Amino acid sequence: SVEVVIVPDARAGGELIAEAMAQLLRRKPDAVLGVATGSTPLPVYEALAAKVRSGGVDASRARIAQLDEYVGLPADHPESYRSVLGRQVLQPLGLGPGAFMGPDGRAADIPAACAAYEETLEKAGGVDLQLLGIGTDGHIGFNEPCSSLASRTRIKTLTEQTRVDNARFFDGDIEQVPHHVITQGIGTILAARHVVLLATGAGKADAVAASVEGPVAAVCPASALQLHPHATVVVDEAAAAEL
Ligand code: GLP
Repeated sequence: SVEVVIVPDARAGGELIAEAMAQLLRRKPDAVLGVATGSTPLPVYEALAAKVRSGGVDASRARIAQLDEYVGLPADHPESYRSVLGRQVLQPLGLGPGAFMGPDGRAADIPAACAAYEETLEKAGGVDLQLLGIGTDGHIGFNEPCSSLASRTRIKTLTEQTRVDNARFFDGDIEQVPHHVITQGIGTILAARHVVLLATGAGKADAVAASVEGPVAAVCPASALQLHPHATVVVDEAAAAEL
């Protein structure tokens, strides 16, 4: 069952999850942290970087695993998730590219790149803690509604809604938002030893309620967390409003 933790605000949620990551790294210095993009996880990365700077935790051996990526953007495009995670996670934690694992969104053979990423994760010993945000439609990573609950890393087509939501990162121009993405599957995500979903703001309240209290169903991908033996959902008061 899903453990729900209600915190006063996004900052408190970030601090709570960063402390869980720090505890993991103290126990296992080369732990694999699965990281998500979007605006929600930023307070987590800021709080973890602050702990590193103050000497509260040594993250120098941490390994970082990417959740999803656009197909076709050059790796050095500022909005490729590889670039975003470089700015938001690797640089602040003082980690180099060697610490990073992710799928190649520019590969000529995308299915092969997806399989290669699954193999990379397996060889790394799996993800220790996977951080997730949630889409307003309940998506996790880029697993849109009706994704198979057993899915592995694969190519997906974005819904119009998600492209509209993400246009804000592309000068507000939906034409610039790629149509295709590579995402860890729901089955891939569930293979992590601890899954932590952070949701903040009233816009996520319905998706959170459906995920935690609704039936386990592919129409709400995040409901699959109910199948995981160690899943934690951290919500602020606004996102908890429908619970
Ligand atoms: C994108 C990402 C998801 C993220 C979602 C929500 O679709 N692929 O991983 O959870 O956006 O973003 P935000 O946290 O900005 O609401």
